[in-house]
Amino acid sequence: MKIKRNWVVPKGQTPTDFDKKILGFQDKGFLVPKRRLVLNDEQIDGIRKSGVINTGVLDEVAKIIRPGISTEEIDKLVYQYTVDHGAIPADLNYEGYPKSVCTSVNEVVCHGIPSEDEVLEEGDIINVDVSTILNGYFSDASRMFIVGEKTDPQRERLVKVAKECLELGAAAVKPWGFTQDIAKAITKHAHDNGYTVVREFAGHGVGLAFHEDPDIDHYYNPKGGPGMLLVPGMVFTIEPMINMGTRKVFIDEDDDWTVVTEDELPSAQWEHTYVLTENGLEILTY
Ligand code: MF3
Ligand code: CO
Repeated sequence: MKIKRNWVVPKGQTPTDFDKKILGFQDKGFLVPKRRLVLNDEQIDGIRKSGVINTGVLDEVAKIIRPGISTEEIDKLVYQYTVDHGAIPADLNYEGYPKSVCTSVNEVVCHGIPSEDEVLEEGDIINVDVSTILNGYFSDASRMFIVGEKTDPQRERLVKVAKECLELGAAAVKPWGFTQDIAKAITKHAHDNGYTVVREFAGHGVGLAFHEDPDIDHYYNPKGGPGMLLVPGMVFTIEPMINMGTRKVFIDEDDDWTVVTEDELPSAQWEHTYVLTENGLEILTY
């Protein structure tokens, strides 16, 4: 097997203990991060500040969600709050994406595009996925909201279990562990509850760019190896999409963005941006 030599010690530099530890994994054939994925304190602080605004956006969204508002109104609020705080919505114009936020209602898994024609109804469940650039630093988080007083018990349970999947995935991360630790915890909890895990979209490195290595898969593949080594200083999202029915999804041909479950049963997702430290994971989007 050919080893991918991602970790390189710059010429003329003596390897630190940190280098040696990573090189040890690499020499054994494990996939390790590139050096640029290990961020310094100043960079992490920049992402943390971006995360404060990102959280502020979601808190404002929480205040306006109710039956009768359109997803377009959510988009307007996200845009306005973000620019008023000196930041840029990362979604806007990202690979041609036309809006400032993703709003994914009921059977929409992710990347739902806000629209004037889409009016929220009592009992809908909606994921609002917000990403912010502040001074060049990216943060990314999403929450589920139940529209109105309540939804049916099945959807309510889906929303709750999807949140637990994120929390258990995060709790499974240890410094010097691997990305598949996350997938294993998420997949077990989803399957134990009779749900499925979407495979087509993963969490991702984030911070200096919107989407970076490593892929944080949510679906556990026992035959696929442990994934990438996770070392202190890495910043990434976890964002499992959990379906009530089939895991299979398709992309709406009309807009080329909206991801929908094949059986049109509901899907739920929660997301945070995390930094891995010597002591474990810290949320940067609280
Ligand atoms: N916020 C999404 C994520 O969690 C990405 C949305 S990209 C967009 O990674 F173009 F659809 F906005
Ligand atoms: Co993300």
